[in-house]
Amino acid sequence: MSQDIHSEKILILDFGSQYTQLIARRVREAHVYCELHPYDMALDEIKAFAPKGIILSGGPKSVYDEGAPAIAEELFELGVPVLGICYGMQLMSCHFGGEVVPAGKREYGHAELQAQGTPGPLFDGFFVEGKSPVWMSHGDHVEKVPGNFEVVAGTANAPVCAIQNVARNLYGVQFHPEVNHTPRGELLIDRFVRQICDCSGQWTPGQIIEDAVIRIREQVGTDKVILGLSGGVDSSVAATLIHRAIGDQLICVFVDNGLLRLGEGDQVMDTFAENMGVNVIRVDAEQRFLDGLAGVSDPEKKRKIIGGLFVDIFEEEAAKLSDAKWLAQGTIYPDVIESAGAKTGKAHNIKSHHNVGGLPDYMKLSLLEPLRELFKDEVRAVGEEMGLPHAMVWRHPFPGPGLGVRILGEVKKEYADILRRADAIYIEELYRTGHYDKISQAFAVFLPVKSVGVMGDGRTYEYVIALRAVETKDFMTAGWYPLPYAELAHISGRIINEVKGVNRVTYDISSKPPATIEWE
Ligand code: XMP
Repeated sequence: MSQDIHSEKILILDFGSQYTQLIARRVREAHVYCELHPYDMALDEIKAFAPKGIILSGGPKSVYDEGAPAIAEELFELGVPVLGICYGMQLMSCHFGGEVVPAGKREYGHAELQAQGTPGPLFDGFFVEGKSPVWMSHGDHVEKVPGNFEVVAGTANAPVCAIQNVARNLYGVQFHPEVNHTPRGELLIDRFVRQICDCSGQWTPGQIIEDAVIRIREQVGTDKVILGLSGGVDSSVAATLIHRAIGDQLICVFVDNGLLRLGEGDQVMDTFAENMGVNVIRVDAEQRFLDGLAGVSDPEKKRKIIGGLFVDIFEEEAAKLSDAKWLAQGTIYPDVIESAGAKTGKAHNIKSHHNVGGLPDYMKLSLLEPLRELFKDEVRAVGEEMGLPHAMVWRHPFPGPGLGVRILGEVKKEYADILRRADAIYIEELYRTGHYDKISQAFAVFLPVKSVGVMGDGRTYEYVIALRAVETKDFMTAGWYPLPYAELAHISGRIINEVKGVNRVTYDISSKPPATIEWE
């Protein structure tokens, strides 16, 4: 019998720290469901949410600033355990009569926490020989400890770095347990949600799947569902999950735009149609995309054309499936958080990345988004649990406009064919040498310029391929990956020998910023 995996949940109130999403990921890693909400969530909503625990995040403001973010005072009277992190701890301290002041010395980076007295239930195991390395990032600290709270630990700079009122289950830490630089931080968050908040840890891939299957069945009943399959992780996992729930009621539309990687169209069909028996309509639209892109070299225009054609073609296919009532999408939790941010004006886009802007209203399809609550790592875990191939689940991200933004300037079939073959050699070598999984994203870029070379006894005049590989956590900033010279030499040799039309290979050593990851 399936249990309700949403019955135990943690509420994270966001005061604007750059680390807030990490808190949520650590809670999920402790196998407990949680949601992120703005700090000013109304008390009634908080009560309706019925959290088993509340975490107050850090934030950039000072509690003593005018108009500093505050919370409903009654929050502390709900009888629910609260953990305040950084700003959250300062807010809690002020609420209970403590005092927060600007630190004499700001503290950013590693610090050593020194325990005082007995650690108590939350900090059990957090100190080894009375010490624990932590990550700090603050300009204020608690000067006067609130009544009924005791100090658990401090650093040389900030004597009050962890406080608790065990009887009322209120805890505060000045450091950031959610970041990897706090080695035992994961343990602390795990203890908070499982020991202090008494959650049993039902949020596992197996349970997530079981729950999603039940919910999809309840939602769609006997209706038909259409889904745009791209071969990427999110749409693949969504398709697999929905197929598990409703089988043939799911119809996937896979638009082959001619801008995919080598063999990708066949791989998608093999995995879904052949092996899993999913209903997939493959639309071979290469020529339409090439025609649409002819003569266009502006990157944003190319994106709009590719996105627009995708919608047109998808609509044409959907019109043939007039009995479909639902449109499934692989929206994931960070997209949900990001679009909430966009509404409040927090988000800022440099490229029009998410080119699939949904379908026109007149199609009257309801949205089915089975991955809406999941972080990317959870989507992958669910995909693996359902038996999707490892390489598909762990594949580097691939932009919606595909090779369209990796062929600089005008897109031509000749260029796409050259690029596909060069890219396939590059990726094959990265797998073979074990670098692929250490890299966040790697790909080849086609440069439509010709340079002189010599092959055998002849002079050549051919195209240039650039190779890119980056390491990044969030794709907002990225460093170039230090691929060893010997491997670069081998890859370059293979591409020039095996791909006709290329006589020069370069390696991109730009970081983001100021360069972006894609070349367009
Ligand atoms: P940039 O180039 O902005 O890329 O540093 C950051 C991440 O976004 C991906 N990207 C795209 N994804 N449509 C997408 O779906 C796009 O138009 C697009 N442009 C860039 C890029 O591959 C990287 O992962």
